Amino acid sequence: MIVVGKENDEFSKQLAKELGIEYSPIEHKLFPDNESYIRFQNYDGLKEKELIFVNRGESPNFNPDKLLIETLFTLKKLKGEYKSKIYCVLPYIPYARQDKKFKRGEVVSLREARDSLKEYSDLLINVSAHDFRSEGWVDEKTYNVDGTYAIIDFMEKQKYEKPLILAPDMTATNSVLMIAEALDAGTESLIKRRSLETGMIITGGKLPSLNDQELIIYDDIASTGNTLYKAVERGKEAGAKKIVCAVVHAVLTYNKDFGKNCLDLIREQGAEFYATDTIASPISEISIVPYIAKAIKERF
Ligand code: R5P
Repeated sequence: MIVVGKENDEFSKQLAKELGIEYSPIEHKLFPDNESYIRFQNYDGLKEKELIFVNRGESPNFNPDKLLIETLFTLKKLKGEYKSKIYCVLPYIPYARQDKKFKRGEVVSLREARDSLKEYSDLLINVSAHDFRSEGWVDEKTYNVDGTYAIIDFMEKQKYEKPLILAPDMTATNSVLMIAEALDAGTESLIKRRSLETGMIITGGKLPSLNDQELIIYDDIASTGNTLYKAVERGKEAGAKKIVCAVVHAVLTYNKDFGKNCLDLIREQGAEFYATDTIASPISEISIVPYIAKAIKERF
């Protein structure tokens, strides 16, 4: 097996190292109009092989279109022209936002993205893909690595004292329970409703008094930061002595309601903010690579 990934992204090199296998770089540049240039440096060595192709995005300014298109073009060449067996590692799957149909006539973009990617790969490996386990979308060509374990290992090293673990909405409760069990901590959850028209969120629920207690807020994705912002507000109102936000995917987009990026929004609230490196970002301090490597080793 050979790991194939962009030469300017350490992630694929680290994965090859962790797996103890060969790494083959992809030359990657942008044309002046922002289109991607992609070239396999060791092209002859990639034909009719078993390849692990890795691609991830970066934030702030995360671009889901670019990540998806680059990945599809690359897979198509490796599979169609080079006739290789492809295991595609896409730590954050783009188009995760629309993961179900809320109104008639909507395109469920996560399903479309995954189906297109699966057409050109023998196995698609994602990390904590938005809700797709509950949607029954995990099949023989899809593997979901649970990013919660990386968050737990990181949290254990931080040595928090009896923190409270908070789910900012009900979708985070499973992971929050796992973290709480590992840290021997209590849990709380808030209730969130998002307007289908404006995208604005309303958060309900109240926290108990948190005097002198540390609060850890877990979510799978931080995009605009609105979800975390509300949860941090609740934590402050409850008197938490320290607030830590931990997410798997640091999408970190510009928040037009506040006129600033999600990263600044949360940090300016005085909270610590950490993420895994499924997307390269200034807060991606938690490496997901060992967990992906473990999943690959278990599978093959
Ligand atoms: C939604 O259910 C997810 O788990 C996250 O809470 C959501 O994607 C976060 O988005 P934002 O940062 O824009 O509030």
